Amino acid sequence: MTYGPSAGQLVRPPEHHHDAPYVPVFTGERREQLDVILSRYPTKMAALLPALWMVQDVHGWVSEHAVEEVAQVLELSPAYVKGVLSFYTMYHQHPVGKHFIQVCTTTPCNVCGAEDVVKAFLDATGCGELGVTSADGRFTVIEVECLGACGFATPIMINDEFIESVTPERATRIVAERD
Ligand code: FES
Repeated sequence: MTYGPSAGQLVRPPEHHHDAPYVPVFTGERREQLDVILSRYPTKMAALLPALWMVQDVHGWVSEHAVEEVAQVLELSPAYVKGVLSFYTMYHQHPVGKHFIQVCTTTPCNVCGAEDVVKAFLDATGCGELGVTSADGRFTVIEVECLGACGFATPIMINDEFIESVTPERATRIVAERD
């Protein structure tokens, strides 16, 4: 069962404004970090994925301005960068909550109750729907395909943290423990 959008189809929360000046990522120390990454590859294009990760680490998502910056520093076209960005669902093309929760709802987890886990997260976070960021900006919940832990249903990820065997009750506790 699908409750709403999944990764890559996130609903932009209305409280986010996009008219603030864009703060470039690749200056100073981060530019030096990018240069180290670039030294490992034969072409600038090959550093596109780590460059996008750096942007997302700084801003929480990859905006159109960020696409232009990445394109400029890697000497690529913005269209090429956008194409790669939109291919990988782990990159956010819209702002997401501070705690980005991904719940596996593929069949093996689904038959073990993943839908109830999703509902518990949506209720506990106040998100209400998949892909919608909570009004306080703290949470976004999406469902994802197999996370590779089918024997430990239901696995989830919160940002970079992987958690197995999540039940609805545990989901509620996990949310309560977040700041
Ligand atoms: Fe859920 Fe594989 S089906 S982790």
